Amino acid sequence: MSERTLAIIKPDAVKKQVIGDIIKRYEAANLHPVAIRMMQLTKTAAEGFYAVHKQRPFFNSLTAFMSSGPVVVLALAGDNAIKRHRELMGATDPAKAEPGTLRAVHGTNIEFNAVHGSDSADTARFEIGYFFPEMDLVAR
Ligand code: CMP
Repeated sequence: MSERTLAIIKPDAVKKQVIGDIIKRYEAANLHPVAIRMMQLTKTAAEGFYAVHKQRPFFNSLTAFMSSGPVVVLALAGDNAIKRHRELMGATDPAKAEPGTLRAVHGTNIEFNAVHGSDSADTARFEIGYFFPEMDLVAR
């Protein structure tokens, strides 16, 4: 079943100049970009995006990091896209991520972990809507 998920190439990965490598891996996995946007989040926008983590001890440093430089936000579509994207990313902590996954290859630590991906259908709907109006999503 085709579904959509939200991906963010985080400020650490943009700084490392691996945007192209990451998008190449999405395409190789048949996770088709249906919307792409490069932007710099404000601290407030990062706080809104990660609102579910508001009570976590890392909330302030996470949102400071996410607003520290440009990011690339993508909506990806494909069969079972949410789960397959999470498998491609690997565990949140790059040290625990399977070899060859995006976070194992490009992440530095649990905070500077290169990429974000939606963790459920409900989250994907919220996260895609946070960045893209429906008319910005192409059909693929
Ligand atoms: P992400 O998939 O973007 O979702 C929430 C983010 O919070 C996560 O990736 C990490 O970057 C960050 N995060 C999760 N756990 C921790 C932690 N224990 N310490 C610092 N950052 C964390």
